[in-house]
Amino acid sequence: MATRKLLLLPGDGIGPEAMNEVRKLIAYMNEDLQAGFELEEGLVGGSAYDVHGQSISEADMQKALGADAVLFGAVGGPKWDDVPYEVRPEAGLLRLRKDLQLFANLRPAICYPALASASSLKQELVEGLDILIVRELTGGVYFGEPKEIIDLGNGQKRGIDTQIYDTYEIERISGVAFELARTRGNRVTSMEKRNVMKSGVLWNDVVTATHAASYQDVQLDHMLADAGGMQLVRQPKQFDVIVTDNLFGDMLSDVAAMLTGSLGMLPSASLGAPDDVTGTRKALYEPVHGSAPDIAGKGIANPIAMMASFAMCLRYSFNMVAEADRLESAIAAVLDSGIRTVDIAGESITPVGTTQMGDAVLNQFKALSN
Ligand code: IPM
Ligand code: MG
Repeated sequence: MATRKLLLLPGDGIGPEAMNEVRKLIAYMNEDLQAGFELEEGLVGGSAYDVHGQSISEADMQKALGADAVLFGAVGGPKWDDVPYEVRPEAGLLRLRKDLQLFANLRPAICYPALASASSLKQELVEGLDILIVRELTGGVYFGEPKEIIDLGNGQKRGIDTQIYDTYEIERISGVAFELARTRGNRVTSMEKRNVMKSGVLWNDVVTATHAASYQDVQLDHMLADAGGMQLVRQPKQFDVIVTDNLFGDMLSDVAAMLTGSLGMLPSASLGAPDDVTGTRKALYEPVHGSAPDIAGKGIANPIAMMASFAMCLRYSFNMVAEADRLESAIAAVLDSGIRTVDIAGESITPVGTTQMGDAVLNQFKALSN
């Protein structure tokens, strides 16, 4: 039986509640499908700070480095608003991304047919929406140095962040976008701000050169990132794959996520480079929604984004494509049947809680697996 090492980092807020629903899926897959998942657990974010005084401990970082894949819930909450910047909950996530070198962040924005009416845009604009945002995740202004606040000595301070991109970083992320486009609609739109940023000029040049060298079969378009944001809410279905930098990707993926009706629906994958010898890549899977402290502990959070993140894990880390397809079909079938958590219930449906939604998906997944 294959051994598949998974590290669970439920984190804060609704993270642990959502993760519990994935645990049930894993237990079923181990018992009935001989999936061979071996689980480890760790703390990240505020929950790690409370125990270790750090947003992730060295021991848990080692577990992450040794795992085949990491499942991550969410971090942060008002409880930790005043902890020092270096150990704030988000720092644990950023360290995982950086130390595991997870440079490629895949954020699908899919509008499930059953939810088209929950979008803040007109139904016909979002029905059938299927966009993949490929966000660069280990470079740019998130990590560039200097990054500091300096005292100018005249009663003024200066806050500095630095946007930096090297050629290889743009080549590898655009390569991921082109490869993925080939498995979908075969179109890539690259977004930057070359009209004001030198890093944008380089981004545009390198994406163009990468395309010309190896991916001429894929259609490539360029858009300024502000115009891209506007087009995302004007005519979202014009896009297939969008490739962009760390900061623009953060913003544009939230915009794209909301088009689909609920942030509670969307998964993401953060991938490293394939190992030269084994071909495997480090990977972390996380829902796009945050820790949602306002509803944490109430048992009403939507676990679908976390469960769909596990589907991405099956697909990208373990090549369990059939199981991933079945899990995604199970989620769609549950939504078709009218079962809703409160975030997607609308006016006329009585919402179910987190565990009921998780059970519904699990039961559907079991039915499809027999
Ligand atoms: C995201 C989040 C993170 C980011 C935060 C929690 C650091 O907004 O994953 O989109 O800015 O990358
Ligand atoms: Mg974000």
